[in-house]
Amino acid sequence: MIYVENLAYRYPGETKDTIHDISFEVARGEIFGFLGPSGAGKSTTQNILIGILKGYRGKVQINQQELDQLSADYYERIGVGFEFPNFYQKFTGLENLQFFSKLYKRKTQNPQKLLKNVGLTDAAHVRFSNYSKGMKMRLNFCRVLLNNPDILFLDEPTSGLDPVNAKKLRELILMEKEKGKTVIITTHSMDTADKICDRVAFMVDGEIALIDQPKQLKVRYGEKSLQVEYRCQSGIKRELFSLNNLYENQHFQHILSHYEIVTMHTQEATLEDVFMKVTGRIL
Ligand SMILES: Nc1ncnc2c1ncn2[C@@H]1O[C@H](COP(=O)(O)OP(=O)(O)O)[C@@H](O)[C@H]1O
Ligand SMILES: [Mg+2]
Repeated sequence: MIYVENLAYRYPGETKDTIHDISFEVARGEIFGFLGPSGAGKSTTQNILIGILKGYRGKVQINQQELDQLSADYYERIGVGFEFPNFYQKFTGLENLQFFSKLYKRKTQNPQKLLKNVGLTDAAHVRFSNYSKGMKMRLNFCRVLLNNPDILFLDEPTSGLDPVNAKKLRELILMEKEKGKTVIITTHSMDTADKICDRVAFMVDGEIALIDQPKQLKVRYGEKSLQVEYRCQSGIKRELFSLNNLYENQHFQHILSHYEIVTMHTQEATLEDVFMKVTGRIL
């Protein structure tokens, strides 16, 4: 669906590139995530892919067609969720969607239906300025879907949301995947990347450090460990053991045979641990 080879980009007037020779592919029906700290170049990459930043170097192909050769029809086929969307404060949620619908030539989806899908039926006639952060993000998602796009670009879709609203948004994104949509998201939330992305690109300083499935990354880079709590004279003691060759670990065997075990838990590395290990940075 999307094929990018040695993409580089420099903002006009700057002396250095912001994006350095990145390459990746996104398959149809995939949720592909850019994970990285603030300033990594995630939004820049996305803004190139949606065609609003011109003058990139390298190859960017959408359905085998070079991006800078595509006609304005491209905008009819994609849905874009900006990190800071410009909704009209004095319009209601519904009026905002009706306004943005008119920008498309393509048949658009019923805004009331979209609002219902995200649980905003009751807020349809409430002014945007009175929406909470969670409501704004859900309305932003409705706007992405207005033209029933084939490809969704979501910039930080769960940023600033409480856990309940973040979960809701993740579920909405997964529902689009089920319909066969291709989704590209940027996020600095390892939770969002881990829970919904089929593959993740770790991005730092305008470069992609690696690309893989979250599960694979945790297996390959994260060491599994076992946390053991046992009762001894001074109270309850907690120790951490690597799962590697645990059966040979004398100290572990000693604990098993001499103390009362209180709890035992295996711990998987988090995607954040892996990110730190690979890039030396924190999210
Ligand atoms: N319009 C611009 N002109 C020049 N530099 C910019 C512009 N927008 C962003 N940058 C710079 O590009 C880098 C990447 O920014 P961005 O793509 O927004 O990162 P992210 O989305 O990962 O937080 C940052 O150093 C930022 O300051
Ligand atoms: Mg950004």
